[in-house]
Amino acid sequence: MNRPTNRPAGLVPKMLNHLAYVTHDVAATADFYTRVLGMELASTIFDDHVPSTGENFPYFHIFFRMGDGSTIAFFECTDLPPAAKSTHPAYDTFNHCALWVENQAEVRRWLAWLKENDVEVIGPIDHKGMIESIYFHDPNGIRLELTTPIDPDWNRHARQGEADLKLWVETKERAKAEGRDPAQALLQMIRESKKRYAQAG
Ligand SMILES: [Fe+2]
Repeated sequence: MNRPTNRPAGLVPKMLNHLAYVTHDVAATADFYTRVLGMELASTIFDDHVPSTGENFPYFHIFFRMGDGSTIAFFECTDLPPAAKSTHPAYDTFNHCALWVENQAEVRRWLAWLKENDVEVIGPIDHKGMIESIYFHDPNGIRLELTTPIDPDWNRHARQGEADLKLWVETKERAKAEGRDPAQALLQMIRESKKRYAQAG
């Protein structure tokens, strides 16, 4: 991979400020994020246009604050048709928002609390000894994950990450160049790599 080398030192985003989604029911959303997920209502805005683009979309904007000050935000527009359906269920499974909780005991406390609130939950799932997570949906159908690291260095595996990125891209490119099906080549590579995880324990 070619990485630019002339970047100013230390120019890295500091933390999540907000992640924003559209809602059609801000009342249910506010109830879920404050009462069930325990976040503070952090900030709100009314506007009849979008400051960044100038588009005339009247909306209510609301932010919910997490423990570190980062937020999840929503827009409820005054008049918006439902979002288009995904073309494949993988989009609905893979697109998600994961929130960090303290430890594995807390993952279990969340599991019990969510069930008590009639929220359907999957998990806990151990992700190859890296993190442990539970999954559920908010009232907007947004897939949420509560997760805690099992491996304290889970987000510091840069060398393996670079190698894996190269392997994925090159497998795909090589298959294309040789007239083979990239999806088949990638699947074969994934299965070979899974043996590596099994051997690693
Ligand atoms: Fe995730």
